[in-house]
Amino acid sequence: MNRRIIQCIIVCALVTAGPAALADNGPLSSYDPPLTPELRTLLREASVEAGAQVFERKCATCHDGAKDGKPSKGPNLWNVFGRKAAMSAVFVYSDAMRKSGHRWTYATLDYYLSDTERAVPGRSMDLTGLRSAKMRADLLVYLRTLNDVPPALP
Ligand code: HEC
Repeated sequence: MNRRIIQCIIVCALVTAGPAALADNGPLSSYDPPLTPELRTLLREASVEAGAQVFERKCATCHDGAKDGKPSKGPNLWNVFGRKAAMSAVFVYSDAMRKSGHRWTYATLDYYLSDTERAVPGRSMDLTGLRSAKMRADLLVYLRTLNDVPPALP
């Protein structure tokens, strides 16, 4: 087969696969990420202490996690687990976050924190994301403690 035909086949395959691939990878307003076995394992092995340090280094400049804490550049994160996005009454969210409509769970938080712009395009949170899946899992088991009723570990 000549090169052009091979190139054409590759391009056609990509174009056809495009929308399907995006459906698995899109914004949280239209994509509900699954709790994968990999994430479950990472969460089971995660460290609350390490997560608290990640929070201090990466989140605390903009977020207060204390019960009755105040909004800062970002909303207070007490009780964020389990609630719907953009529900803090005393914080002004972006339109993108208000319209997203998802609920914060292990799976959606992990997805959001891996790539915030992909998860909520137009979000006003100025943090690209955390590349390390282990770091995110540590952070999640810490975030679950900032709750009146911490959600069960998966
Ligand atoms: C530079 C400031 C900044 C940093 C750093 C930051 N955030 Fe945010 N965060 C925001 C802002 C602003 C919003 C509101 C986003 C919007 O309305 O689009 C937000 C929103 C959120 C939300 C949604 C809250 C809700 O009520 O729906 C979560 C969850 C969150 N951040 C977690 C984190 C975590 C965890 C970290 C650390 C890895 C972090 N953020 C780091 C500023 C920040």
